[in-house]
Amino acid sequence: MIFFRATALLVFSLGCIATQTTVTVSSTGAQAVPTTLFGATFEEVNQAGDGGIYAELLKNRAFQKVTPGTPESLDGWQSVGGANITVVQDASPVSTALPNSLRVTIPTGKIAPVGFANEGYFGGMAVDTTLTYTVSFFYKFPTASSFRGTAVIGFQTASGLSLGSTTAPINGNQTTWLQVTVSFKPVQTSLNNNNVFAITFNAMAAAGQTIHFAMLSSLPPTLAGGCRIDLVSVLQEMQPGFLRFPGTENLGKTIADRWQWNNTVGPVVNRPGRVGSNGYVYTDGLGLFEFLTLAEFLRATPIMSIYAGLSLDGSIVDEEDLFPFIQQAIDQINFVVGPTNTPQGAMRASLGHSTPFALTYIEIGSQEFLTSDTYQTRWLDFVTILSQSFPQLRFIAASSVNNPVLAPDPTHWDLHLYQTPSWLAQNSMFYDGIERNGVMYLEGEYAAISDNSDDPNSDRFPFPTIESALGEAAFMTGLERNSDIVFGASYSPLFNNILTTQLTPSLISFNVNQVFRSTSFYVQKLFSLNRGTQYWPSTVPDPNGSIFWSVVVQSGAKTFKVVNLSNVPENVTFISPALLAGSGTVTVLNGTGSTSNTPSTPNAAVPVTSSINLGNQPQWTYVAPPMSLSVIRVL
Ligand SMILES: *[C@@H]1O[C@H](CO)[C@@H](O)[C@H](O)[C@H]1NC(C)=O
Ligand SMILES: *[C@@H]1O[C@H](CO)[C@@H](O)[C@H](O)[C@H]1NC(C)=O
Ligand SMILES: *[C@@H]1O[C@H](CO)[C@@H](O)[C@H](O)[C@H]1NC(C)=O
Ligand SMILES: *[C@@H]1O[C@H](CO)[C@@H](O)[C@H](O)[C@H]1NC(C)=O
Ligand SMILES: *[C@@H]1O[C@H](CO)[C@@H](O)[C@H](O)[C@H]1NC(C)=O
Ligand SMILES: *[C@@H]1O[C@H](CO)[C@@H](O)[C@H](O)[C@H]1NC(C)=O
Ligand SMILES: *[C@@H]1O[C@H](CO)[C@@H](O)[C@H](O)[C@H]1NC(C)=O
Repeated sequence: MIFFRATALLVFSLGCIATQTTVTVSSTGAQAVPTTLFGATFEEVNQAGDGGIYAELLKNRAFQKVTPGTPESLDGWQSVGGANITVVQDASPVSTALPNSLRVTIPTGKIAPVGFANEGYFGGMAVDTTLTYTVSFFYKFPTASSFRGTAVIGFQTASGLSLGSTTAPINGNQTTWLQVTVSFKPVQTSLNNNNVFAITFNAMAAAGQTIHFAMLSSLPPTLAGGCRIDLVSVLQEMQPGFLRFPGTENLGKTIADRWQWNNTVGPVVNRPGRVGSNGYVYTDGLGLFEFLTLAEFLRATPIMSIYAGLSLDGSIVDEEDLFPFIQQAIDQINFVVGPTNTPQGAMRASLGHSTPFALTYIEIGSQEFLTSDTYQTRWLDFVTILSQSFPQLRFIAASSVNNPVLAPDPTHWDLHLYQTPSWLAQNSMFYDGIERNGVMYLEGEYAAISDNSDDPNSDRFPFPTIESALGEAAFMTGLERNSDIVFGASYSPLFNNILTTQLTPSLISFNVNQVFRSTSFYVQKLFSLNRGTQYWPSTVPDPNGSIFWSVVVQSGAKTFKVVNLSNVPENVTFISPALLAGSGTVTVLNGTGSTSNTPSTPNAAVPVTSSINLGNQPQWTYVAPPMSLSVIRVL
């Protein structure tokens, strides 16, 4: 997913000559700031979805895309009390989407409870006695038996101590799949997350029985279509103006394992899942409807990418074979916005959303292998047909390095950028030089990912630092200045599970029950919450300097953002006769350049707000702390 623009590694010169920066704020030429300016891109990497924001606790819950009989097919599962458990290709599977099931054979001669357990995604399971958990599974007996028994369903510590359970009848006459759904509240608090979810039987009563299980699920209360409450809340806190999904990695590594919307909607028992792009199976529990629900919940404009015949492994659908893929994209868009008299719109309505979702932006692909020739063909074919079917939509061309010349001329581009902090600051002028010809830009993925002295291709650091976050902040002042042509920007990747990470740094880190906000998260949040509705032009910063700023206004409140990136002593004097600033607050995020919020130091740098009075003067001076972002919001 990573492409680089031309690399220019420059280090800020350190000086000690006192200088003074004067910023004149202009009373003319104010421009509207798009509500979508600062948003979020979801990327399925680092278990961001499965084992992340998708709240399912059971790992490998439906034995999707595993080879039956192999040890790997039991990933996440273990025997309890000596039961024999094997993943089998079921002769009559629970659905065509899910061919595998778990065959459980209860041995004879046991006394303790026997059955099977799931260890959860990375880091175990947090069991919370204040929450009600909903469990569901399918079971059947391959051959009818006289067994009439009870399954005990609950959480246990690693050493087998019950933390709370419920029961469900299991009958040997059940030779076709039956779904069982139960809910319960644990009664015992666990000292740690080293817990499992277990289904067990009385060993004597069940001795000799063989039972098949499929599509098992255990969920705590969720928000917005099955999402983890704490991770949705941290997104809510950021107030993203858009949600871009399903993400480059999620569009698929191969043609066969591409994102297919119709395999991600409806009952989870009908979702086959896919071999993912990052070494783990994508369950597609977090499917199209869930993404749309999440965007709606966050009041974020959806920016939906569609698979465009280009996969991450380089495989390409030949042009003469593209039509079914375009048709699948049409069907996908109809699911989102189609009237309920289309099959796809009817399906959306059946899921509880009869009104169309608000959709404006479709991204054609996501950045894969954009040599002019491969992308040109796909851009032409998809946009020509899709814009006939959906003239109200805007189509975004995915770009990276090559700036392919495309026909028809894109009206919207998505550019991606992973660089050093100083590169980002120095290139905060990038959009100043872009022609104003009606074309709009999305900076759909960007981040400062290494120290200034390191190569961002190879030396990505584990967590954002103050220096990287301030490089992004400097860059973002340029996005604000150019918000007449930049309609959106999002840091990427959004999430990482700290116990399994393929790509660092990420904006938000988490484990099973904790969330860690990075320095970059606070920068995104401060810009998003202080986006303003009007941008007021001011003196343009020196891109090679160390002070960056922007001025926005919203309902009479004026917001001045000041980024101080170096130890060159200089004051910033704002001259703004038309924008007399009185009193309000200043929020400062600062630290040493290498300060990181990590799981062991989660609050090393957090924004601090205090009051400020600028005296309603046409001219005032602000002394920004070293290595800081200051957001001054005054009336
Ligand atoms: C910066 O501002 C402070 C307080 O307004 C003042 O004391 C100091 O002399 C100024 N420094 C420079 C280099 O202008
Ligand atoms: C468990 O199942 C495997 C696979 O079918 C079989 O080879 C093995 O003999 C069984 N073991 C027991 C104790 O039933
Ligand atoms: C199986 O047995 C249970 C309990 O004896 C009974 O309630 C149920 O209707 C039977 N189900 C089938 C499919 O025969
Ligand atoms: C989804 O659509 C594809 C292509 O049209 C089709 O091959 C596949 O069977 C569909 N999946 C489901 C679950 O209907
Ligand atoms: C910034 O520094 C670079 C490299 O030294 C130089 O090429 C560029 O012209 C400078 N930009 C400005 C606006 O001074
Ligand atoms: C920026 O930080 C330096 C110290 O690193 C400080 O001396 C200077 O005053 C700050 N700049 C501004 C504009 O306040
Ligand atoms: C931020 O600046 C304040 C005031 O200059 C200082 O006390 C504090 O230690 C700084 N924070 C960090 C994390 O360095």
